[in-house]
Amino acid sequence: MRKPHQTKAQAATPYIDALLEYRAKGMVAFHTPGHKLGKGAPPIMREAFGDTLLGVDVAMAGGVEDTRESTSLVAAAEALAAAAWGGERCFFLVNGSTSGIHSLLLALAGPGDGVILPRNAHKSVQAALIFSGAVPHYVEPEIDPIWGIPLNVPAERVAAAVEAHPHAKAVFVVSPSSNGVCAALEAIAGVVHDGGLPFVVDQAWGPHLRFCSALPLDAMSAGADAMVASTHKLISGITQSSVLVARGERLSLQRLESIVKMTQSTSPQVLIYASIDAARAQMALYGEQLWSQAVENAEWARARLGQIAGVRVMGAEVLARRGVADFDRTRLTVSACDLGLNGYELETALRDHYGIAVEAADPLNVLLNVTYGDSRDDVACFTTAMADLAARRRDAGAVSCDTLLASWPRFSRQVMSPRDAFFAASEAIPVKHAAGRVSAEMVAPYPPGIPIVAPGEEVSDELVAYLTEASARAMHVHGPEDLTLKTLRVVS
Ligand SMILES: Cc1ncc(COP(=O)(O)O)c(C=O)c1O
Repeated sequence: MRKPHQTKAQAATPYIDALLEYRAKGMVAFHTPGHKLGKGAPPIMREAFGDTLLGVDVAMAGGVEDTRESTSLVAAAEALAAAAWGGERCFFLVNGSTSGIHSLLLALAGPGDGVILPRNAHKSVQAALIFSGAVPHYVEPEIDPIWGIPLNVPAERVAAAVEAHPHAKAVFVVSPSSNGVCAALEAIAGVVHDGGLPFVVDQAWGPHLRFCSALPLDAMSAGADAMVASTHKLISGITQSSVLVARGERLSLQRLESIVKMTQSTSPQVLIYASIDAARAQMALYGEQLWSQAVENAEWARARLGQIAGVRVMGAEVLARRGVADFDRTRLTVSACDLGLNGYELETALRDHYGIAVEAADPLNVLLNVTYGDSRDDVACFTTAMADLAARRRDAGAVSCDTLLASWPRFSRQVMSPRDAFFAASEAIPVKHAAGRVSAEMVAPYPPGIPIVAPGEEVSDELVAYLTEASARAMHVHGPEDLTLKTLRVVS
């Protein structure tokens, strides 16, 4: 059940108010950063950022707050955020949800401990497994045969994993997926809690969910013990801002806090904190109307795109797929493969010929975020561009594209823990000779950052074929030492 937030109290913005007060006082700054409120910054930086912004790029202690009482403002702003997102505690993060995921896994599992995870988890999970030494018990997500993307994990597979691994320390789920596809969180929370485990959710793509009834259910309302949400992805937090929200029934908030402090900079960017403070108030006060408008605009675009021959857009039909409980209608997954354009080519065409920048491209599709920042004219600009592009492609007699990369390779068998494989003696060998060997590194096409192979997994023939084509097409990946994918580091 979705829990309402306290609208009246949520109007307060203690952190950003303090920043404005600091600037208004005209302080003489003898603290970091060295540009001293912009006065010493190189002219190009002053031109790009403006003195208004540089004038609030100050240190937290000594700047926004007196060094004697530093952090009380943060505590006040975090308490408001905890209430808004439905937790007992909220931690502001300056290194994105990535650092929240690191903190959560480090807090919940140590060396050799099992954690139940979806195999489509973001690459930050692999880093957390290497840091902590925890062992993943993967749950396979459904892969959509048409869109070529991982959907989500069915609740019954999570239930089977909880039964099969009674000593696991936690269950982790990603919802929404990076394309906005949501798992059955309430059912999963029930199963996980019946098994006596904490349930944590990577809600990086759902900072907005709790604030509008036209959006899917959020993790904390569904009963999760903790979640991370990237406030920079879909609401007004600036880049890298994120929140970790938790309740203390099944996990120690004190331990979590001490670990969060290990994973964050000791010099948090105050602009990031201030933007979370303001974005939270905006959502709590106006989220319902702002996001209702965004949903309407996205649905308007979806209806128009659906009428263009050769263009496909993911819609409500995805709800019929296994593992899908709901989807965020403000995310537009669009394909022009029937017009001979793969996702990367479509991204380039939109950028170069129509001045439209998308969120992401994958081998088949592009992905667009529609938020309250977009007007009907903005979304119409995209639908008009797609109609024009489609007409030109049809006139040119385009045929459908065909690529092996369109089908996500089956995930491989885990034979060593990610940490053991990562730190084992290893060698870089040509990918074509890697079948049957154990990968010592991760390869994650970016976006969306889901590893197609993770440290400790056996390399299959299917994976070798995929990596070979990915290399030929210069796919953008994160993780491996050899970004051209000609070689792969495997355990010796
Ligand atoms: C599903 C998922 N989780 C976590 C992250 C990491 O989020 P951040 O960029 O805020 O560190 C991403 C980033 O794209 C993501 O897609």
